[in-house]
Amino acid sequence: MDSSVEAHRAGGAWPARLDVAQSATGLCLAAFLMLHMAFVSSILISERAFYTVARFFEGQYLLGTSHPAIVSGVAAVVLLLFVVHAALAMRKLPHDQHQLGAYRRHAARFGHADTSLWGWQAATGFALFFLGTIHLYGMLTRPALIGPFESADRVWSGRMWPLYLVLLFVVEVHGGLGLYRLALKWDWPRGVDRTRLRRLKTAFSVFFITLGLVSLGAYVRIGIAHADHAGERWTPALSTAGR
Ligand code: HEM
Repeated sequence: MDSSVEAHRAGGAWPARLDVAQSATGLCLAAFLMLHMAFVSSILISERAFYTVARFFEGQYLLGTSHPAIVSGVAAVVLLLFVVHAALAMRKLPHDQHQLGAYRRHAARFGHADTSLWGWQAATGFALFFLGTIHLYGMLTRPALIGPFESADRVWSGRMWPLYLVLLFVVEVHGGLGLYRLALKWDWPRGVDRTRLRRLKTAFSVFFITLGLVSLGAYVRIGIAHADHAGERWTPALSTAGR
Protein backbone atom coordinates (compact mmCIF):
# COMPACT_ATOMS: atom_id res chain seq x y z
CA MET A 1 0.00 0.00 0.00
CA ASP A 2 1.13 3.60 -0.74
CA SER A 3 2.99 4.95 2.33
CA SER A 4 1.01 8.25 2.27
CA VAL A 5 -2.27 6.28 2.38
CA GLU A 6 -0.93 4.28 5.34
CA ALA A 7 0.11 7.49 7.10
CA HIS A 8 -3.40 8.90 6.57
CA ARG A 9 -5.01 5.76 7.98
CA ALA A 10 -2.74 5.92 11.01
CA GLY A 11 -3.99 9.49 11.64
CA GLY A 12 -7.61 8.24 11.84
CA ALA A 13 -10.23 10.97 11.58
CA TRP A 14 -7.78 13.74 12.48
CA PRO A 15 -6.80 14.85 8.96
CA ALA A 16 -10.53 15.25 8.17
CA ARG A 17 -11.19 17.12 11.43
CA LEU A 18 -8.28 19.48 10.78
CA ASP A 19 -9.60 20.05 7.26
CA VAL A 20 -13.03 21.00 8.63
CA ALA A 21 -11.33 23.38 11.10
CA GLN A 22 -9.36 24.95 8.26
CA SER A 23 -12.52 25.42 6.18
CA ALA A 24 -14.46 26.85 9.15
CA THR A 25 -11.76 29.37 10.15
CA GLY A 26 -11.35 30.37 6.47
CA LEU A 27 -15.09 30.91 6.10
CA CYS A 28 -15.22 33.06 9.28
CA LEU A 29 -12.28 35.16 8.04
CA ALA A 30 -13.88 35.61 4.59
CA ALA A 31 -17.18 36.70 6.21
CA PHE A 32 -15.27 39.12 8.46
CA LEU A 33 -13.43 40.58 5.44
CA MET A 34 -16.67 41.28 3.57
CA LEU A 35 -18.15 43.10 6.58
CA HIS A 36 -14.81 44.88 7.19
CA MET A 37 -14.78 46.19 3.59
CA ALA A 38 -18.35 47.48 3.99
CA PHE A 39 -17.30 49.28 7.18
CA VAL A 40 -14.06 50.70 5.72
CA SER A 41 -15.80 51.89 2.54
CA SER A 42 -18.36 53.93 4.50
CA ILE A 43 -15.77 56.73 4.06
CA LEU A 44 -17.14 56.94 0.49
CA ILE A 45 -20.52 58.06 1.85
CA SER A 46 -19.02 60.80 4.03
CA GLU A 47 -16.48 61.40 6.81
CA ARG A 48 -19.38 61.55 9.26
CA ALA A 49 -20.67 58.14 8.09
CA PHE A 50 -17.26 56.50 8.75
CA TYR A 51 -17.00 58.31 12.12
CA THR A 52 -20.46 56.99 13.09
CA VAL A 53 -19.57 53.41 12.10
CA ALA A 54 -16.27 53.58 14.04
CA ARG A 55 -17.97 54.88 17.20
CA PHE A 56 -20.74 52.28 16.82
CA PHE A 57 -18.17 49.46 17.01
CA GLU A 58 -16.76 51.06 20.17
CA GLY A 59 -20.23 50.71 21.72
CA GLN A 60 -20.88 54.46 21.96
CA TYR A 61 -24.53 54.26 20.90
CA LEU A 62 -25.36 51.16 22.95
CA LEU A 63 -23.31 51.81 26.12
CA GLY A 64 -23.36 55.63 26.19
CA THR A 65 -19.54 56.00 26.03
CA SER A 66 -16.82 54.77 23.68
CA HIS A 67 -14.89 51.60 24.58
CA PRO A 68 -12.06 51.11 22.04
CA ALA A 69 -11.17 47.92 23.98
CA ILE A 70 -14.13 46.29 22.19
CA VAL A 71 -12.28 46.82 18.88
CA SER A 72 -9.12 45.34 20.45
CA GLY A 73 -11.18 42.32 21.54
CA VAL A 74 -12.50 41.80 18.00
CA ALA A 75 -8.97 42.23 16.59
CA ALA A 76 -7.68 39.61 19.10
CA VAL A 77 -10.35 37.11 17.99
CA VAL A 78 -9.57 37.79 14.30
CA LEU A 79 -5.84 37.39 15.02
CA LEU A 80 -6.51 34.06 16.75
CA LEU A 81 -8.56 32.82 13.77
CA PHE A 82 -5.81 34.07 11.47
CA VAL A 83 -3.09 32.17 13.36
CA VAL A 84 -5.13 28.94 13.65
CA HIS A 85 -6.07 29.10 9.93
CA ALA A 86 -2.42 29.72 8.94
CA ALA A 87 -1.14 26.91 11.20
CA LEU A 88 -3.63 24.45 9.68
CA ALA A 89 -2.76 25.62 6.15
CA MET A 90 0.96 25.10 6.80
CA ARG A 91 0.36 21.33 6.72
CA LYS A 92 -0.28 21.67 3.01
CA LEU A 93 2.53 23.99 1.92
CA PRO A 94 5.60 22.45 0.23
CA HIS A 95 8.27 21.92 2.91
CA ASP A 96 11.46 21.90 0.81
CA GLN A 97 12.71 22.50 -2.74
CA HIS A 98 11.94 18.89 -3.72
CA GLN A 99 8.27 19.21 -2.82
CA LEU A 100 8.10 22.65 -4.46
CA GLY A 101 9.78 21.26 -7.61
CA ALA A 102 7.38 18.29 -7.65
CA TYR A 103 4.39 20.66 -7.41
CA ARG A 104 5.74 22.88 -10.22
CA ARG A 105 6.42 19.92 -12.54
CA HIS A 106 3.00 18.44 -11.77
CA ALA A 107 1.20 21.78 -12.39
CA ALA A 108 3.09 22.31 -15.69
CA ARG A 109 2.48 18.74 -16.94
CA PHE A 110 -1.13 18.51 -15.76
CA GLY A 111 -2.13 21.91 -17.19
CA HIS A 112 -5.22 21.95 -14.94
CA ALA A 113 -6.39 25.46 -13.93
CA ASP A 114 -7.31 24.49 -10.34
CA THR A 115 -3.86 23.00 -9.73
CA SER A 116 -2.22 26.27 -10.82
CA LEU A 117 -4.74 28.27 -8.76
CA TRP A 118 -3.63 26.24 -5.70
CA GLY A 119 -0.14 27.73 -6.23
CA TRP A 120 -1.61 31.24 -6.16
CA GLN A 121 -3.55 30.46 -3.01
CA ALA A 122 -0.44 29.11 -1.28
CA ALA A 123 1.66 32.14 -2.35
CA THR A 124 -0.95 34.74 -1.28
CA GLY A 125 -1.50 32.84 2.00
CA PHE A 126 2.23 32.98 2.70
CA ALA A 127 2.30 36.76 2.01
CA LEU A 128 -0.64 37.23 4.42
CA PHE A 129 1.45 35.86 7.31
CA PHE A 130 3.39 39.13 7.17
CA LEU A 131 1.06 41.70 5.62
CA GLY A 132 -2.05 40.78 7.63
CA THR A 133 -0.34 40.69 11.02
CA ILE A 134 1.21 44.16 10.65
CA HIS A 135 -2.25 45.69 10.13
CA LEU A 136 -3.92 43.54 12.81
CA TYR A 137 -1.29 44.45 15.40
CA GLY A 138 -2.00 48.16 14.74
CA MET A 139 -5.75 47.63 15.25
CA LEU A 140 -5.13 45.54 18.38
CA THR A 141 -2.84 48.06 20.08
CA ARG A 142 -4.26 51.42 18.90
CA PRO A 143 -8.01 50.76 18.55
CA ALA A 144 -9.02 54.32 19.45
CA LEU A 145 -7.26 55.74 16.40
CA ILE A 146 -9.96 54.82 13.91
CA GLY A 147 -11.78 57.75 12.36
CA PRO A 148 -11.82 59.91 9.21
CA PHE A 149 -8.68 61.91 10.09
CA GLU A 150 -7.07 59.22 12.28
CA SER A 151 -7.31 56.56 9.54
CA ALA A 152 -6.44 58.94 6.69
CA ASP A 153 -3.37 60.18 8.64
CA ARG A 154 -2.26 56.57 9.23
CA VAL A 155 -2.73 55.79 5.51
CA TRP A 156 -0.94 58.88 4.18
CA SER A 157 1.30 60.53 6.84
CA GLY A 158 1.91 57.15 8.55
CA ARG A 159 2.82 55.70 5.11
CA MET A 160 0.58 52.64 5.45
CA TRP A 161 -0.85 53.02 1.93
CA PRO A 162 1.81 50.86 0.18
CA LEU A 163 1.12 48.02 2.64
CA TYR A 164 -2.67 48.39 2.28
CA LEU A 165 -2.35 48.45 -1.51
CA VAL A 166 -0.49 45.12 -1.62
CA LEU A 167 -2.57 43.62 1.23
CA LEU A 168 -5.79 44.50 -0.61
CA PHE A 169 -4.84 42.53 -3.76
CA VAL A 170 -3.33 39.63 -1.82
CA VAL A 171 -6.23 39.18 0.61
CA GLU A 172 -9.01 39.54 -1.96
CA VAL A 173 -7.37 37.05 -4.36
CA HIS A 174 -6.75 34.66 -1.45
CA GLY A 175 -10.31 35.08 -0.11
CA GLY A 176 -11.92 34.61 -3.54
CA LEU A 177 -9.86 31.47 -4.22
CA GLY A 178 -10.54 30.14 -0.72
CA LEU A 179 -14.32 30.52 -1.07
CA TYR A 180 -14.15 28.89 -4.52
CA ARG A 181 -12.32 25.86 -3.11
CA LEU A 182 -14.74 25.66 -0.16
CA ALA A 183 -17.70 25.62 -2.55
CA LEU A 184 -16.11 22.83 -4.61
CA LYS A 185 -15.02 20.82 -1.58
CA TRP A 186 -18.36 20.90 0.26
CA ASP A 187 -20.47 21.02 -2.92
CA TRP A 188 -22.35 24.16 -1.92
CA PRO A 189 -24.36 25.58 -3.65
CA ARG A 190 -25.29 21.99 -4.57
CA GLY A 191 -24.50 20.92 -8.12
CA VAL A 192 -23.23 24.34 -9.27
CA ASP A 193 -20.80 23.92 -12.15
CA ARG A 194 -17.08 24.73 -11.97
CA THR A 195 -17.08 27.34 -14.75
CA ARG A 196 -19.86 29.29 -13.08
CA LEU A 197 -18.09 29.10 -9.72
CA ARG A 198 -14.84 30.29 -11.28
CA ARG A 199 -16.66 33.32 -12.72
CA LEU A 200 -18.17 34.06 -9.30
CA LYS A 201 -14.70 33.81 -7.69
CA THR A 202 -13.29 36.34 -10.18
CA ALA A 203 -16.29 38.65 -9.68
CA PHE A 204 -15.79 38.47 -5.88
CA SER A 205 -12.12 39.47 -6.11
CA VAL A 206 -12.70 42.19 -8.73
CA PHE A 207 -15.60 43.71 -6.75
CA PHE A 208 -13.72 43.90 -3.44
CA ILE A 209 -10.44 45.06 -5.03
CA THR A 210 -12.31 47.86 -6.84
CA LEU A 211 -14.20 48.88 -3.68
CA GLY A 212 -10.92 48.78 -1.72
CA LEU A 213 -9.03 50.84 -4.29
CA VAL A 214 -11.70 53.53 -4.40
CA SER A 215 -11.85 53.63 -0.57
CA LEU A 216 -8.05 53.72 -0.27
CA GLY A 217 -8.09 56.62 -2.74
CA ALA A 218 -10.53 58.47 -0.44
CA TYR A 219 -8.25 57.93 2.62
CA VAL A 220 -5.23 59.14 0.60
CA ARG A 221 -7.12 62.25 -0.57
CA ILE A 222 -8.22 63.14 2.99
CA GLY A 223 -4.73 62.27 4.32
CA ILE A 224 -3.02 64.63 1.85
CA ALA A 225 -5.49 67.44 2.66
CA HIS A 226 -4.98 66.85 6.41
CA ALA A 227 -1.19 66.26 6.34
CA ASP A 228 -0.34 69.62 7.94
CA HIS A 229 -2.60 68.74 10.90
CA ALA A 230 -1.68 65.03 11.12
CA GLY A 231 -2.52 63.68 14.58
CA GLU A 232 -5.57 65.87 15.06
CA ARG A 233 -8.74 63.83 15.73
CA TRP A 234 -11.90 64.17 13.67
CA THR A 235 -14.94 65.62 15.42
CA PRO A 236 -18.32 66.31 13.81
CA ALA A 237 -17.41 70.03 13.80
CA LEU A 238 -14.30 69.36 11.66
CA SER A 239 -13.97 67.95 8.15
CA THR A 240 -11.59 68.42 5.24
CA ALA A 241 -14.52 69.90 3.32
CA GLY A 242 -14.86 72.61 5.97
CA ARG A 243 -11.16 73.63 5.89
C1 HEM B 1 -10.53 43.63 13.95
C2 HEM B 1 -9.64 43.66 12.97
C3 HEM B 1 -9.55 44.79 11.96
C4 HEM B 1 -9.92 46.09 12.10
C5 HEM B 1 -10.52 46.80 13.31
C6 HEM B 1 -9.62 46.74 10.84
C7 HEM B 1 -9.85 48.08 10.55
C8 HEM B 1 -9.44 48.74 9.41
C9 HEM B 1 -9.56 50.15 9.19
C10 HEM B 1 -10.18 51.15 10.17
C11 HEM B 1 -9.06 50.43 7.97
C12 HEM B 1 -8.96 51.82 7.30
C13 HEM B 1 -7.54 52.32 7.32
C14 HEM B 1 -6.99 52.50 8.74
O1 HEM B 1 -7.67 53.01 9.64
O2 HEM B 1 -5.80 52.14 8.94
C15 HEM B 1 -8.62 49.17 7.39
C16 HEM B 1 -8.08 49.00 6.14
C17 HEM B 1 -7.75 47.80 5.58
N1 HEM B 1 -7.79 46.58 6.18
FE1 HEM B 1 -8.43 46.18 8.05
N2 HEM B 1 -9.08 45.82 9.98
C18 HEM B 1 -9.03 44.61 10.62
C19 HEM B 1 -8.59 43.41 10.09
C20 HEM B 1 -8.15 43.23 8.81
C21 HEM B 1 -7.73 41.97 8.25
C22 HEM B 1 -7.71 40.63 9.00
C23 HEM B 1 -7.36 42.21 6.95
C24 HEM B 1 -6.85 41.26 5.93
C25 HEM B 1 -6.00 40.32 6.23
C26 HEM B 1 -7.57 43.62 6.69
C27 HEM B 1 -7.30 44.25 5.49
C28 HEM B 1 -7.40 45.62 5.28
C29 HEM B 1 -7.10 46.26 4.02
C30 HEM B 1 -6.64 45.57 2.72
C31 HEM B 1 -7.32 47.63 4.20
C32 HEM B 1 -7.19 48.74 3.14
C33 HEM B 1 -8.62 48.97 2.67
C34 HEM B 1 -8.75 49.81 1.43
O3 HEM B 1 -8.09 49.53 0.45
O4 HEM B 1 -9.60 50.70 1.46
N3 HEM B 1 -8.05 44.21 7.84
N4 HEM B 1 -8.86 48.17 8.30
